[in-house]
Amino acid sequence: MKSPLPVAGLTLLSAKVAAAIKFVPEIDGALANGLDTLPTPFNLTNSQQRSSEYGAGSFWSSSFLSASNNHQYLVISHVMADVPFWTPGRAMYRGSVLDITDTSKYTQFEFFVDDYDVFGENGTFNATFSDYGFVSAGPGALRTWSNISGAEFDLNIELSSSIILNGGIGVFQVSSTLHQWSLPAGKTTGSLSIDGLKVSVDSKSSLTWYDRQWNGGPPDWTWFELHLDTGKLKADLVPVSAWIWEDPEAGFKGIASIREEPGVQKVVPVKSLETTGRTWTSEATGAEYALGWVLELTDGTKLSISSQRDNQELAAEGGEFPAYAGYILAEGRLGRDQNIQGYGVVEIVPPGNAG
Ligand SMILES: *[C@@H]1O[C@H](CO)[C@@H](O)[C@H](O)[C@H]1NC(C)=O
Ligand SMILES: *[C@@H]1O[C@H](CO)[C@@H](O)[C@H](O)[C@H]1NC(C)=O
Ligand SMILES: *[C@@H]1O[C@H](CO)[C@@H](O)[C@H](O)[C@H]1NC(C)=O
Ligand SMILES: *[C@@H]1O[C@H](CO)[C@@H](O)[C@H](O)[C@H]1NC(C)=O
Repeated sequence: MKSPLPVAGLTLLSAKVAAAIKFVPEIDGALANGLDTLPTPFNLTNSQQRSSEYGAGSFWSSSFLSASNNHQYLVISHVMADVPFWTPGRAMYRGSVLDITDTSKYTQFEFFVDDYDVFGENGTFNATFSDYGFVSAGPGALRTWSNISGAEFDLNIELSSSIILNGGIGVFQVSSTLHQWSLPAGKTTGSLSIDGLKVSVDSKSSLTWYDRQWNGGPPDWTWFELHLDTGKLKADLVPVSAWIWEDPEAGFKGIASIREEPGVQKVVPVKSLETTGRTWTSEATGAEYALGWVLELTDGTKLSISSQRDNQELAAEGGEFPAYAGYILAEGRLGRDQNIQGYGVVEIVPPGNAG
């Protein structure tokens, strides 16, 4: 992670770069920082429970894992419910496992269940299905697991890092008022099952970005989760949550929430997002996804971003509500003068899938 990568070579260097990337969790203590002191226009502590203020929305995690077989993995796990344009009671769960060290290995799943309450009997987040689960596991902890063939995992996530309040106070305006907070680098323990063999997660070099979001979203979007390495010794990577969408009336919109250091955050408009022309079209859903971008923010930030494998689409049988959740590498500059490189996830929800 020392010398900057040539932009053109980004897609070709994945194995080398992946081998050099170390996933470092943060243990500053999101809860120790006193969530109740933050000026959110909703009760942050209660956002993992049933609430009279809002519906369930989205519970999403991306785990960057170093495993005991010396491979690195990206595990996506996602539950959604109370989506305004779905039948009431409909819930979705989906996920994927990508071998970052050998990106030819990838498995995904997506299922819908009707008449389901993700808040269980006593109001705590509990999305437990026959072959998959994502649940609150006591104060400041989550567990997600899957028994789905080829994508078997069991992960415990601690809410141990300082969060990002998207938009500054955890809300920003799309067609609705979207609520979102992100935990960029929570401590992660657990295991995966790879080709029938159980491998354990090295918690010192693994992390989970957990994302809690509710009350709608844009009609379609490109969202980047980024972990940017400024090269500063002993500093945490800089996590960025960047949204880009087309407003039906106003056109191009974009907002990036950047956690410069734990407890220090800024919100910067997106100036532009250009695609490089690399695309992949899904046979399952017909959706076409960009695989390369140049993202510019108004503070001078300019990033080249590249998806590291073409097919990283989460799709249900029949193709309802697909999304692309892909492993990406990034390089460029943060602000006007900090060279960075980093990694993350792009989530693309293609047009025609939201209300
Ligand atoms: C949020 O809700 C919890 C539990 O109901 C309560 O203890 C806490 O005081 C509330 N926080 C705020 C800021 O209202
Ligand atoms: C979560 O739901 C499962 C399945 O319905 C149930 O067995 C379990 O006890 C529930 N856990 C909690 C904490 O409510
Ligand atoms: C619900 O039950 C679980 C498991 O017994 C417990 O950990 C959790 O605190 C309970 N939640 C509430 C809101 O009582
Ligand atoms: C599914 O996986 C979880 C986590 O590995 C495990 O605890 C559970 O027993 C498994 N369930 C089945 C039915 O195999």
